[in-house]
Amino acid sequence: MDHRREIRFLLNGEEVRLAEVCAEDMALDFLRLRRRLTGTKEGCAEGDCGACTVLVGRLTGGGLVYEPVNACIRPLATLDGCHVVTVEHLAGPGGGLHPVQAAMVAHHGSQCGFCTPGIVMALVALWLSTPAPGREAVEEALQGNLCRCTGYAPILRAAEAMGGFGDRAADPLVTGRAEVAARLAGLRDGRRVEVARGDSRAILPADVEDFAALLAEMPDAVVVAGATDVGLWVTKGLRRISPAIFVGHLDALRRVETRDGALHLGSGASYAEAQGPLVAAFPHLAGYWSRIGGPQVRAAGTIGGNIANGSPIGDTPPALIALGAEVVLRRGDVRRVLPLEAFFVDYGRQDRAPGEFVESLRIPLSGPGTRHAAYKISKRRDEDISTLAAAFAVTVEGGIVRAARIALGGMAGVPKRAAHAETALVGRPWCEASLVAAAADLPRDFTPLTDWRGTAAYRMKVAQNLFRRFWLEQGEARTGGAA
Ligand SMILES: Cc1cc2nc3c(=O)[nH]c(=O)nc-3n(C[C@H](O)[C@H](O)[C@H](O)COP(=O)(O)OP(=O)(O)OC[C@H]3O[C@@H](n4cnc5c(N)ncnc54)[C@H](O)[C@@H]3O)c2cc1C
Ligand code: FES
Ligand code: FES
Repeated sequence: MDHRREIRFLLNGEEVRLAEVCAEDMALDFLRLRRRLTGTKEGCAEGDCGACTVLVGRLTGGGLVYEPVNACIRPLATLDGCHVVTVEHLAGPGGGLHPVQAAMVAHHGSQCGFCTPGIVMALVALWLSTPAPGREAVEEALQGNLCRCTGYAPILRAAEAMGGFGDRAADPLVTGRAEVAARLAGLRDGRRVEVARGDSRAILPADVEDFAALLAEMPDAVVVAGATDVGLWVTKGLRRISPAIFVGHLDALRRVETRDGALHLGSGASYAEAQGPLVAAFPHLAGYWSRIGGPQVRAAGTIGGNIANGSPIGDTPPALIALGAEVVLRRGDVRRVLPLEAFFVDYGRQDRAPGEFVESLRIPLSGPGTRHAAYKISKRRDEDISTLAAAFAVTVEGGIVRAARIALGGMAGVPKRAAHAETALVGRPWCEASLVAAAADLPRDFTPLTDWRGTAAYRMKVAQNLFRRFWLEQGEARTGGAA
């Protein structure tokens, strides 16, 4: 079948077809410079400030879903098959202000106004699921938006009050949902899409088989999933990424399912898609997961990207290594499975052959008796990269530690298990002294670096303190000695 040579998407109410698109084009530039939709602002161009937030609707197994997206790092090519909603498209039922905008006006949620469209769009994403949110939901919805003027209090008040300014059921984004879904379905033709501008090419494979074959043929191509790393290579590093193979639209890679005693996460599952099933299986990850980026980053960033980038400070590796996760790598039709910790060979080096990609992760469900915790230490609570992260899975039977998996990030060039500390703990009584003794072995496992996030001494001290915190939260005091 011929490849399609144009991307097609809905922009507000209009269908857009573009043939001249390069791998490095970002949605924000298209909106502002080519469409003059200047309500969407550029603040940081790196996913941090949320001024560029738009909604992107896509068809999933469960129907049409709208997510908040940072347009500054969203490659234009990946809008194929989507509905992009900018602030210009918002309206109340009578064509006046949208209820979120009306609430922002009434509660003085805007001063200079630069952040306001982005904040409104982030809140509309919340409004669509939760029109009358409490403070916690509002704070979480705004983790990815910065405001320099208001001090946030009026914005929080507006968000909590937005349900009083209109009826969600009458929102055009709700009443028009079936029509938009039908239009998006009509844009799909199951073909591979290849577009280019100059000598820069963007390829969207037809399906996972097509992707596997393409990457085996073009091992030097750049794989792009959520682009929350790769987008910055372009906007901040001014790097060329052509030819780029975009995989975020491949439903088969986004699959999340529980079978054969394990949770299987497709590499293309976003943080947000993985969150529900992961937290249901491992409740200790609830707080940890909601501190990864903000909603815009969690809607785009994928588990596979967080692993494949090999970062020593990625948040998912320590948590998944402690849970005993395995990674499935695929090249063409050939697959191999590795314990996740073995994937990270050295700083900047992973056990991934040319043409191979991360297909999925398998996380065994733990039995009773295993105590879990995951901790993220960062300078800011929200939307910050970890200084260090630590995750524990410790199995206790009859008051004795029978097994321990303890993994840390930010303590070495790779996310890594604390082998000596684990050995020191296993076979010992489940008590504070055992954890303190195990923590004393950490310098045998790690020689952390000093950087602007923290000194080597700080990192080691905090890591050791987390062993004690694990005891204080999970030990006898908490369980009444039920170990
Ligand atoms: C504002 C902001 C906040 C952030 N906060 C956090 C945070 O709190 N915690 C955290 O851990 N990270 C954070 N990040 C980093 C980022 O979200 C993650 O690293 C993310 O998981 C990358 O996934 P992605 O799908 O966006 O990857 P991409 O940017 O698409 O790709 C990243 C790398 O992985 C490769 N790749 C992607 N998918 C595959 C695959 N299936 N097989 C092989 N290679 C692949 C790409 O080629 C590239 O080298 C943040 C980023 C931003 C911009
Ligand atoms: S411009 Fe700051 S997040 Fe996009
Ligand atoms: S109102 Fe000025 S940055 Fe928010």
